[in-house]
Amino acid sequence: MGSSIEQYVRPLVQYLQLGRGLSPWLVTTMLLFGWFAISKLLKTTESSSLQSKRPPTLPSGIPIFGHLPQFLWNGSSLMSRAAKYLGPAIPTKIKLFSFSTYIVSGPESIASFFKENLYLSATSRSIVVMENAFGCPHEHVDLFRPRVTADGRPDDIEHMIHRSIQGGLSGPRLETLTAQFQARLAESLLGQTDKEHQGKWIEVDDLHGLVQKHVFAAMVHTLFGSYMLSLNPTIASDFWEFNKSVRSLFMGLPPWMTPGALKMRSKMLESIKRWQRHAQENCNFDDISDMDWEPYYGCRHVRERQALLTQRGILDETARAAENFAFMWATNSNSGPAASWFLLEVLQDHQLKEEIEGQLLQGHFASVESSSLTDQEIVCIDPAKLMADPLLQSVYAETLRLRVAVLVVREAVRGDFSFCGWQIKKNEVLTISSRTEAMDQTTWGTGGPDEPYPLHKFWPRRFLVDPADSNSGPLNIQKRAKKSSAAEGSSGPYFSMDGLAGSWIPYGGGRSLCPGRHFAKRKMIITTAVVLSLYDVELTGSSPMVDLNHFGFGTMPPKYKVAARMRRRVPNKS
Ligand SMILES: *[C@@H]1O[C@H](CO)[C@@H](O)[C@H](O)[C@H]1NC(C)=O
Ligand SMILES: *[C@@H]1O[C@H](CO)[C@@H](O)[C@H](O)[C@H]1NC(C)=O
Repeated sequence: MGSSIEQYVRPLVQYLQLGRGLSPWLVTTMLLFGWFAISKLLKTTESSSLQSKRPPTLPSGIPIFGHLPQFLWNGSSLMSRAAKYLGPAIPTKIKLFSFSTYIVSGPESIASFFKENLYLSATSRSIVVMENAFGCPHEHVDLFRPRVTADGRPDDIEHMIHRSIQGGLSGPRLETLTAQFQARLAESLLGQTDKEHQGKWIEVDDLHGLVQKHVFAAMVHTLFGSYMLSLNPTIASDFWEFNKSVRSLFMGLPPWMTPGALKMRSKMLESIKRWQRHAQENCNFDDISDMDWEPYYGCRHVRERQALLTQRGILDETARAAENFAFMWATNSNSGPAASWFLLEVLQDHQLKEEIEGQLLQGHFASVESSSLTDQEIVCIDPAKLMADPLLQSVYAETLRLRVAVLVVREAVRGDFSFCGWQIKKNEVLTISSRTEAMDQTTWGTGGPDEPYPLHKFWPRRFLVDPADSNSGPLNIQKRAKKSSAAEGSSGPYFSMDGLAGSWIPYGGGRSLCPGRHFAKRKMIITTAVVLSLYDVELTGSSPMVDLNHFGFGTMPPKYKVAARMRRRVPNKS
């Protein structure tokens, strides 16, 4: 009920708390890591100085609204100002109407933020998102709460879920997923350029969209099997449509304000239910317990998830579909655009493009297998070789540094506690902004005086340390001096993330560090390798710009459509 003012205010507050606050990478993490999250018994940081001080508030707020107008106008700039206000070690409060949060910044404070597992939690938020964004029926949503035993330890089932996620998206099974993704992506791309087009330029008005479409298809095929797509031919564009308005669902806006989003959500849930029924009817779990991939459920992890849902007592069809939907969203909404950015960055930089293309076409990353059927040699890109390449890794890290902007939000759930000597009260909220840290001059290097590479510019070699060049590497001089000679004796440039633990945080960190990060990295690098090995691609319009309106939500998409042309490479006949 409540007054009508409250009705307008509440969604706004929820927006700020959930929409802006709960970054997709974090949601991703929460949903993947999901139920496990809450209560690992780790050492407490119960403060010895109980009289610790309260953190300051950023001046320049206006009455009633606080910093809300500044936040809506330019969130990125507000976050940096708060971070810098009295220095990075001091959490600073900003007020967004009736909601306020402390901004935490600087590598040391961020390390404490990620280590603080007892007092800070994000769990309750992810439960709300299950309902608001993914359409889990209200009466079932409590089933998704992490189970704990009477003495506060994670229940056994939480361990099983955790294990399944860890094992499913990393280690040896990662190889299966990678190979599957690579093959499907090539197949999907080739499906759109028939033989007649070979050697002819095709104009593309939205390269980002095109890459998204194929990456999504390959990803869904890899994770959920072949029937998710064949039973639901429009699922890619439905997903796209849904994601356009996902922000308003995260906000918890009332249904009359988001009719389009809700319609797309129901359509997605119906599609996923169709897949669930089809798999149940046609595939018997017990027969295939050790297969890594099969067409009905897709990868083994997805199959295990279905069994774990049953074990948890989540039997309602829609609740199960909501969970599968959340997983689909988590594995696509951010890594898809990130994969596309990787390609766009390479295409924008002629020298970089030539270098990578050259290596690809000369077979540096390939293993050659001869096919007995066609008596032809088949060149296969070898993911292991790609992943070991220092330059590709640096482009990957730089792409995420510049194109991902997440806000990681935690709430003091247990009670008052001391955070780095500052008193935080129960239910207060702490936030870190990945972009603020990614732009921090006190940590990052910016090349040398002759060849500066400012932090707002993409520098493909930012993460390469060249022992012969004192201006190379991601850290600035002061930080580097502290971290002397990490890899002395190394001859050429090498990829390095040393000293960046609290500064490069596109995947969040600590307990909720995104478990999908290894696969996301492969997905990004492989996408560019597959596209460039099959096609000549050239950008034909102006350079892609990032759309900062999506600040706080994860991978920010390009602001305008990216025009390009592409042409199928004519395979070498040898
Ligand atoms: C936000 O502020 C930053 C500087 O803090 C600036 O670089 C950026 O262009 C601004 N963005 C918008 C949309 O005004
Ligand atoms: C999905 O939406 C989020 C939030 O607006 C955005 O950051 C992301 O790039 C979108 N992803 C796709 C695949 O459109």
